[in-house]
Amino acid sequence: MKITVIGAGNVGATTAQRLADKALANEIVLVDVLEGIPQGKALDMYEATPVEKVDTRVLGTNSYDETANSDIVIITAGIARKPGMSRDDLMNTNSAIVKSCAESAVAKSPNAIFIVVSNPLDVMAYVAMKVAGLPRHRIIGMAGILDTARFRSFIALELNVSVEDVNAFVLGGHGDTMVPLARYSTVAGIPITELMDSATVERLIKRTRDGGIEIVNYLKTGSAYYAPSSATVVMVESIVKDKKRILPCSVYLQGEYGLNGMFVGVPVKLGKSGMEKIIEVKLNADEQAALAKSAGDVQGNIAKLKL
Ligand code: NAI
Ligand code: 2OP
Repeated sequence: MKITVIGAGNVGATTAQRLADKALANEIVLVDVLEGIPQGKALDMYEATPVEKVDTRVLGTNSYDETANSDIVIITAGIARKPGMSRDDLMNTNSAIVKSCAESAVAKSPNAIFIVVSNPLDVMAYVAMKVAGLPRHRIIGMAGILDTARFRSFIALELNVSVEDVNAFVLGGHGDTMVPLARYSTVAGIPITELMDSATVERLIKRTRDGGIEIVNYLKTGSAYYAPSSATVVMVESIVKDKKRILPCSVYLQGEYGLNGMFVGVPVKLGKSGMEKIIEVKLNADEQAALAKSAGDVQGNIAKLKL
């Protein structure tokens, strides 16, 4: 198993480190345009492997030659938000970056499964799919696992219960119109709507929607990366081990949920072929309308792209 991580910044480097620590690949290649940064970080990570007792080669580079024949390519390259910016403000800069990364990576690894992390996530996944000419089962955006992890953490904090017993469900684009669904979010199988009043549920939903900017406002110089890298590694693990986990991911819809032609977050089955199935759950009229609005926002941004 060979995994390339493009972008050796906060998300990329932390993802590479978590992949190495979990021994999810024999070889990890970290790529960045900055000279010395991927080389230095990768060597530092490799020097931790005897202590961590894992046989993973970690290599840093500024060239795509070393990425050849990767099984999985993770794109984290691009600029991150600063206070006052929305994810959509990153679109012009990051679409050019993601385009060049996807083109260079697919030329060396034509059969890889691509995971996109760069923002605005759903639009960047579309850019990568189009420029790399990927079939939809091999291009998956990371966002829903992060958004549900945030919702799960806030529910666990509110009820003073273990995060392990909390499951949550978030649909839609990775933006201000994402759709956390309370009635499918549970503690030990009990819907949270049975465990808290509606004002509390609404407060936690709002905090989940604002989860990204809450961290940006603390950090000031960038955005979250510990939880985002954990979420990315969960996707990799399900693919590498063919676990067939059902996870919320951004995938290209072709009629599912009545939506067509855009990436949006829905539950999918992840296994060795990538996205193996889209799970369609019954939504009520309000939920369907909220999902359609979120998908419409993604489609509006896709329409503005100049590829
Ligand atoms: P960062 O600024 O720490 O790292 C980005 C890295 O990309 C830098 O090292 C930069 O040199 C590199 N880069 C820029 N252009 C490149 C190119 N053409 N080829 C290779 N590398 C290039 O940013 P961070 O925090 O790692 O975030 C990365 C991206 O991930 C941002 O767009 C951010 O908004 C997004 N993000 C998305 C999340 C999600 O849920 N989907 C969660 C967290 C971050
Ligand atoms: C987040 O939600 C930056 O999209 C990223 O933290």
